[in-house]
Amino acid sequence: MSTAVETPRKVGVVGAGQMGAGIAEVCARAGLDVVVCEAGPEQAAAAWARIEGSLSRAARKGKLTSETHQRALDHLRVAHDLGELADRDLVIEAVVEDAATKLALMERLDALVGPETVLASNTSSIPIIDLGMATGRPDKVVGMHFFNPVPVLPLVEVVTSLKTSEQTVETVTALAAGPLGKQVVKSQDRAGFIVNTLLVPYLLSAIRMLESGFATAEDIDAAMRLGCAHPMGPLELADLIGLDTTKAIAESLYEEFKEPTYAAPALLLRKVRAQELGRKSGRGFFAYDD
Ligand code: 3HC
Repeated sequence: MSTAVETPRKVGVVGAGQMGAGIAEVCARAGLDVVVCEAGPEQAAAAWARIEGSLSRAARKGKLTSETHQRALDHLRVAHDLGELADRDLVIEAVVEDAATKLALMERLDALVGPETVLASNTSSIPIIDLGMATGRPDKVVGMHFFNPVPVLPLVEVVTSLKTSEQTVETVTALAAGPLGKQVVKSQDRAGFIVNTLLVPYLLSAIRMLESGFATAEDIDAAMRLGCAHPMGPLELADLIGLDTTKAIAESLYEEFKEPTYAAPALLLRKVRAQELGRKSGRGFFAYDD
């Protein structure tokens, strides 16, 4: 006899960059009790402004009722001390895509949350088994990979390591497909999971095409928008994802599969060195003044 899965009500989100802020926003919109943890008071204040701004925009556009908007704000708190996550049922980490940072964070979270708490990672490509083995609860560590912009894109990849329990998978699937209103696909624990394993070589090919002088950035993007009905061209999409994140995913894929198609092109490496990280830094393959 199967028992109904209890979905987590108290959710913590670590990191409030574009992904973490979006995850916190969709959790708050769903009426969950959300604590978002950032690195310090200034970052926490900026996180609040980002999430509150996005919720208010959605309310102004009539996508949220005033009750849902108010309820989301009432149930959302920002913090700059991981200790504030001690009572959470689920913590989703969305910090920078760097293995050492994520492993250290998982170890700290494991030490401070209750024994039943599920620890999820929004990593794009770091092995979930590594994150799980950094804790004393690898059965309760799972990948929950959202897509940018999180309030708009309906997909969550649920990624299971060799140690993730069926119950953990059911818990996060029930949350994503239930209150968060997302569509879930399941992937095994391979670098890139389903989407990035297919998407990133395409983005890297576009960067190589630009680098070789084959076509201009504008024409590469227009070709894929107008010829294939993609909502964005590959270079604008890489700018949206962040060129540092695109590079980090490429490196994880290359590390795992050793295929030349996953190797980060020199132009991408140089853009990251130059801090031209895409939309978030105001310049990547294109310039952004908003
Ligand atoms: N937050 C909330 N809502 C947003 C938003 C954001 N950051 N950005 C856009 N929107 C909403 C707008 O308000 C608008 O809503 P409306 O139609 O109800 O008014 C709607 O989305 C469309 O936005 P716009 O009219 O401003 O612009 P577009 O029609 O060009 O859509 C887009 C923007 C949704 C970003 C669209 O271009 C798109 O889907 N692009 C592809 C994005 C994509 O592929 N993301 C996946 C990246 S891979 C990833 O995230 C994985 C990681 O591991 C790398």
